[in-house]
Parts: sequence; C-alpha cells; structure tokens
Amino acid sequence: MNMHKIAYSFFIAFVASLATLVSVSALSSSERDAADDEGLDPITLDELAEHDGAESCWKAIHGRVYDITDYVPNHPTDPGVILEWCGREASEGWDNKRPGVPHSPRAEGMLDEYLIGRLVDEEGEPAAAESSAAADEARDDAGTAEVPLSPAEDERLHRALLNQPLDGRYRGVFGDGGEMQVNVQFDLRDGRLSNVGYRHLAYRGVDYRQLDEDEDLYPVMVQHLQLAEGLEGQPLTAIFALYEPERMAEDLDGYSGATLRGNKVHSAFRDALNRGVYSWP
Ligand code: HEM
Repeated sequence: MNMHKIAYSFFIAFVASLATLVSVSALSSSERDAADDEGLDPITLDELAEHDGAESCWKAIHGRVYDITDYVPNHPTDPGVILEWCGREASEGWDNKRPGVPHSPRAEGMLDEYLIGRLVDEEGEPAAAESSAAADEARDDAGTAEVPLSPAEDERLHRALLNQPLDGRYRGVFGDGGEMQVNVQFDLRDGRLSNVGYRHLAYRGVDYRQLDEDEDLYPVMVQHLQLAEGLEGQPLTAIFALYEPERMAEDLDGYSGATLRGNKVHSAFRDALNRGVYSWP
C-alpha cells in the first residue's frame, strides 16, 4: 500500500467516526432506546405525583424524569405554564409548547442537567408516555412547516420575521375631531389577549369612566367593559368581532344612539399593534 492509499484510508476512517459521533449526539429523546436508561433510578407515577408544585416540581418527559424545581423561575413564560405539568407525564406539554411546536434543540440540551431517573410502572417496567400518540399526531399535523426559519433560537426574532406581534403589553388610541376617544391597554401572550382594559373612554368632552350609575350614558360604558371582557383570553383575531359589538355586549340596540362603538375600540387595538410592544410586563 502506498502512502496515498494509507492517507486515504485514514481520511475515510476519520470521516466515518465523525459521522458516528454526530449521529449519536443527534439522538433525540424520541429516538432513544429504553435500554439506554437502565442505569437510571426507577421512579413510579405515584412518586412523580408527589412533586407537583413550585416547591418541588418533577416531570416525566419521554420516559425520563426530571427535577426542574430550580429551573421553573427561569422558564421564559409565566410560571403557571410549566407548573401545570409538575408531578405528571409531561411529554405532551414538552412536545407542544405551542400546538404542534416542540421545544428547541437548545431546550432539549438543557434537560440533561435536571435528569433524576426513568419512569416505570408498578411492575418496574418502563412506562409508556401516555400522551405521546397525541403529541405525535400534533407534530404530524404541523408537518414540516414548523421547521425553524432561522438558525437563531429566539422566539422574538422568529415572530418579528413572520410579522407576528410579540408577546408584551400594548397601548393604542382612537381619536377623532381632535379628541382622544378610546385608549386601550392589553397584554399578548402566545397570541392570546389578557388584561384588556381602557385607559380612556370619552366622547364630546364626557369622560365615560367618570359616569355615575344613574347617568344615561352609563350603560354605554358598561357595554364597552363587556367588549373588553369578551376579548379576555381570546386569540388576537377576536378583535375583528368588535365590528359586530352586538354579539359581545348586551342590549346594544337599546342604546343605538351610543357614541362609543366597537369599531373605535377595534381601531385602537390596531393602533396599539402598529405601535408595537409598549412594555414587557
Ligand atoms: C412540559 C411543560 C412545558 C411547557 C408547557 C412549556 C412551554 C413553553 C412555551 C409556551 C414556551 C414559549 C415561550 C415564548 O413564547 O417565548 C417555552 C419556551 C421555552 N422552554 Fe418550555 N415548557 C415546558 C417545559 C420546559 C422545560 C422542562 C424546560 C427546560 C428544562 C423548558 C425550556 C424552555 C426554553 C429554553 C424555551 C425557549 C424556547 C425554546 O428553546 O424552545 N421548558 N416553553
């Protein structure tokens, strides 16, 4: 064998071992074999269920159990989002941080730090993820369209690139005839509305928020509060229902002379979205 051949053989061996290394490290939890986990402490669903809150939060994800108590305050959502899964088989939540959207490889890499055992049934056999079928279905439904569009793992960047509004607090106004009539404030989280309220409601110099219960226009103010309540917890697209306020507020016909209208509130929402996030609550 001449020197070239030897060098070539070494090169091929090197590339092959690199490929093996890459494929081994790329094994995600779903591809892992149960046999890989035999050395881990067995933990039953009953034991898991004892750690179901912020003081001690364990989760089973794809057959492995993690104690993520220390991580809960660092999770980039309201703590309630992940506390809800403590003490449970949580693969479905993990695989669908939003419907059909799994956590990123970066998040997957973080799990190892919190690994404490493997999930077993009463016989000590590996317990199947009860909801993995549902999660797989959600993933299949999402198809390949959910492949990240950017190498960055930053949710905010993705939303900005896709022209989706960022999570945050918004404020926006509707004004006419030189008068500010509606000023709304709301929060967006994962595309849903919360804390919807008015910072200002007025028409022709009358401040609706100062009206007493016995005043004629008071019911109009109540109707506007009903519009705000109706949007609470709804997806952002629900603001289009403001074009038909009679579906969201009672008795609107009785006040058809009302001077504050759903379309003005809608307009204030659109203004808020155009302005962008006001603050990060
Ligand atoms: C099983 C219950 C869980 C649910 C329902 C859940 C839900 C979510 C949601 C909704 C987001 C998106 C936040 C945003 O819009 O910015 C998110 C992001 C994230 N979560 Fe979770 N999470 C869970 C568990 C975990 C665990 C156990 C970890 C790590 C140990 C984790 C790490 C992360 C990270 C790093 C992100 C940033 C985005 C990403 O890398 O995918 N999560 N999670």
